[in-house]
Amino acid sequence: MPIRLRSHKLPQLRREAARLVCAALSLLTVSAASIAQSAAKPIPKIEKTGSTFRFVVDGNPYLMLSGQVHNSSNSNPDDLDKALDVLADWHANTAEVPLYWEAIEPQPGQYDFRSVDGAIQAARKRELRLVFLWFGTWKNGESHYTPEWVKRDKQKYVRVVGSHGEETEIISPLCHAAMEADSRAFAAVMQHIKSIDEAERTVLMVQVENEPGLFGTDRDYSEAANRLFDSPVPKELLSYLETHGQQLSAPMAEAWSKSPKSGTWKQVFGELAPEEFSAWLVSNYVNAVATAGKREYPLPMYVNVWLIEGVERAGRWPSGGATVDAIDVWRAAAPSIDVLAPDIYYPKFYDVAAQYTRPDNPLFVPETNFNPYFVGFVYVTFGDFNGIGFSPFGIDDVEKGGAGAAIGVQFEDTYRILRPLLPLISHYQYTGKLHPILQGLGNGEDWKESIRVGNSLAANIDFTAAFDPAKGRACGMIIELAPDDFVVVGTGFDVTFREMAGPLRDAELLSIEEGIFDGQQWVPSRRLNGDERHVSLPDKSTVLRVRVLR
Ligand code: DGJ
Repeated sequence: MPIRLRSHKLPQLRREAARLVCAALSLLTVSAASIAQSAAKPIPKIEKTGSTFRFVVDGNPYLMLSGQVHNSSNSNPDDLDKALDVLADWHANTAEVPLYWEAIEPQPGQYDFRSVDGAIQAARKRELRLVFLWFGTWKNGESHYTPEWVKRDKQKYVRVVGSHGEETEIISPLCHAAMEADSRAFAAVMQHIKSIDEAERTVLMVQVENEPGLFGTDRDYSEAANRLFDSPVPKELLSYLETHGQQLSAPMAEAWSKSPKSGTWKQVFGELAPEEFSAWLVSNYVNAVATAGKREYPLPMYVNVWLIEGVERAGRWPSGGATVDAIDVWRAAAPSIDVLAPDIYYPKFYDVAAQYTRPDNPLFVPETNFNPYFVGFVYVTFGDFNGIGFSPFGIDDVEKGGAGAAIGVQFEDTYRILRPLLPLISHYQYTGKLHPILQGLGNGEDWKESIRVGNSLAANIDFTAAFDPAKGRACGMIIELAPDDFVVVGTGFDVTFREMAGPLRDAELLSIEEGIFDGQQWVPSRRLNGDERHVSLPDKSTVLRVRVLR
């Protein structure tokens, strides 16, 4: 028999039912939100513990095995597809792709994000992560990627004046209107990336500007700039240099040791004054742009650097960039920039890598030569310098066939073998247990190398072919898992383990296996004994696990 409700009770019951439904719904919403939150990937970050750095992606240390596409490749979706296919073929995990201010904001305040969306989709399709390069006010020390409405309005978007009073094609770092316009556009880009990528985190990091600085002049010679140049150096910079005396770069330390510690730029920095002055202005500007972007979506951000190559004067490289002369000025002025990253196109790779590996800066090589000589520097970057990323420039050249294709084969060979080893390599960074091997001029002798591994062994390396820069060179790494247990990866060399204590003899080998690491798990594919009982890395990159009788 149905229960009949007395009519005056109905409103009260309805209210009660509604309250229960609301409570249930809110519980559901909360738990859905917490499930979504716990399933969401954390935002990528650069974590500093003591003086060690980790780039943390999806909650784990991440090494960028990357490649950069040519400057114009993101203006055409087919070109970008082809370039990303190259990286996917190599087993790279990351692609560096430019975004152009002129394309994204063709009219003031009107945004077109197709190039952002297209790149993210193209990367996801290939399971690649992305580093976006913001070509804003500066690209190679000039301003060619500013929108037309910026270029045309020289009254508002003021240019740098050269030393002979000539107009340049560079927006002045003193131009507040340009800084605001660039910051607005960059903030809009970061907000858009967040809106479409916060859950998947395809985009890991952003380069702010490209090789910022003033190309063709050591500083701005406008009246406003001249007045500032003849004024006292700002106190913030002076006190930063004073309190960070222990870690200044060699050229800055020298200039600072001779400096009266206050006065005009010329008085404080002597010969380096125009460059340091430009660095102060450019780094403050770039920091404002980066800060505006981070306010929307705080991904790690970096600035890439056109280096001083040889004996040159500021202006031959974009003056005011974060060169070895000015890296400390950048550190003082640009806290929103997480990494100052050298574009290493010249062979003194070790010197540059050392200059940019500092207690306040992890090494990231966002550009290097797409050339066989440079392939092996990936081992040096991760192994010798605990670097977080490595990226040859212009990888789309593979598509053109010929020399580009041949170079691509060498990068593919190294990237393919390294990709599954990255978690292991990152695990052993900062422990002294990674021992890169590189044939050729960059690292001593061409025909032999010798490395102390562990307490009582030496690894003697014989390169199996003569060094030929055009063909690439032997390269690889020994990873010390334990005093008697080694991973040997690479190509073109033989290793003999020698006892460094007791009788003079080679170490006795217990086993040699060919295989691969799946995370920290060794998966052997072949055991080498008899005629193959050698630690010999052939022409094609290989991973061996070698156990030694101790
Ligand atoms: C360095 C720049 O950052 C890149 O965008 C590109 O122009 C290369 N130089 C070309 O070598």
